[in-house]
Amino acid sequence: MAIKWTEELATGVSVIDDQHKELFRRINGLLDACSCGRGKEELSTVMCFLDEYVVTHFAEEEASMQQHNYPDYAAHKALHEEFNRNFANLREQFMTDGPAVHVVIKTNHVVVEWLTSHIKRVDRALGTFLKSRP
Ligand SMILES: [Fe+2]
Repeated sequence: MAIKWTEELATGVSVIDDQHKELFRRINGLLDACSCGRGKEELSTVMCFLDEYVVTHFAEEEASMQQHNYPDYAAHKALHEEFNRNFANLREQFMTDGPAVHVVIKTNHVVVEWLTSHIKRVDRALGTFLKSRP
C-alpha cells in the first residue's frame, strides 16, 4: 500500500506541488513502518516527522492565501484544522494500539484519502486562483 503522486494532483504552483510530493514521501514512510510492523516508538518518530511537515505545509498554503486575499481562505483553513484534529486522534491511536489493522485502515481514510481528495478539489482551486494573480 502506497500513496502515489500523479499529474491529476498537480496544482500548477510548483512550491505547493513539491511540498505535496514530499508529503507523499513521508506518508509512504509511515505506511512502510506500518507494514513492516515497526514498534510504537518508531511509529511515533515517523508520525512526528509527518506532523511537523504537515504543519509547515499548511502554514505556507495559508500564508499565501492571506497574501493574495484568497476569498475561500476561511473554508480552506477550516479543512486544514479538521485534518489536524483527525491526525492528532490517529496519533493517539498509534500510541495505544500500535500499527493494528483498524489503525492502518483509519490512516488510509484520515491521511491518504483525505489528502488526495483535498488536493484534487481544494488545493487545485487554490492553484488556479494563484496562477491567475499577476
Ligand atoms: Fe490545502
